[in-house]
Amino acid sequence: MPQRLDSRNFVVTGGFGALGRAVAERLLAEGARVALLDRAPAPGGLPGGVLAFGGVELGQETACQAAYAQAVEALGAVDGVVNVAGGFTWETVEGGALASWDRMYETNLRSAVASCRAALPHLLAGRNGRTDGRIVNVGAAAAQKAGMGMGAYAASKAGVARLTEALAEELKDRGVTVNAVLPSIIDTPANRADMPDADFSRWVAPDKLAAVIAFLLSDDASALTGASIPVNGRV
Ligand SMILES: NC(=O)c1ccc[n+]([C@@H]2O[C@H](COP(=O)([O-])OP(=O)(O)OC[C@H]3O[C@@H](n4cnc5c(N)ncnc54)[C@H](OP(=O)(O)O)[C@@H]3O)[C@@H](O)[C@H]2O)c1
Repeated sequence: MPQRLDSRNFVVTGGFGALGRAVAERLLAEGARVALLDRAPAPGGLPGGVLAFGGVELGQETACQAAYAQAVEALGAVDGVVNVAGGFTWETVEGGALASWDRMYETNLRSAVASCRAALPHLLAGRNGRTDGRIVNVGAAAAQKAGMGMGAYAASKAGVARLTEALAEELKDRGVTVNAVLPSIIDTPANRADMPDADFSRWVAPDKLAAVIAFLLSDDASALTGASIPVNGRV
């Protein structure tokens, strides 16, 4: 395993979920220190060595800022953020609830915006007089084209892609890159339970997606900003 992230510190939101854990494992394996922020109390079975901050509702700005302050104090400094927190719903426009559009916006977009805003003062503070920060947002393939029943989810993930572009422009002369990954279907226990007859081998393995995210956090990706990168597996 390359040690590209040796001595780097990262915050991963949604870090107790399926992808968040895989991202934490990959970053640790590349030599980084990792703090996880999530809504639930910290569960057992997290990767060894992570710092876990549970009970954080990211969309509540004061709570989100307080969690970042705690995480950065524990880490000493932060070099990058991976905004994994999010959720999914399948509802038709006709048969679904109007409130689902608000819920998807809150879960997928507001949480990412709040996390970026809370992270920025820490990222821009840099280290040893040098700013070289990274933000990676987790969008979705549906950000580019919504299928039936995917309206509320896709609209919120399209928002994550637009956030990525706007913030990349805002920060491009200030030493922080901002990119997004757009996964199709991730091979998670929840998806296997929901789609038991599917060919799981076609889906995106969480560790493969984590590898793309690790690249985006590394020096190798320093020239890349404002990109939304499809990670489709064979879907
Ligand atoms: N799974 C897929 O096939 C797929 C495909 C494309 C994109 N994605 C995206 O990839 C990301 C990770 O997916 P996953 O399957 O790993 O999901 P997951 O297992 O549900 O993990 C997401 C985590 O984020 C937390 N979270 C959500 N909103 C939050 C908030 N406002 N404040 C704090 N924590 C919050 C969730 O907590 P709760 O459990 O309490 O809600 C959960 O622990 C999500 O952004 C998802 O939309 C997933």
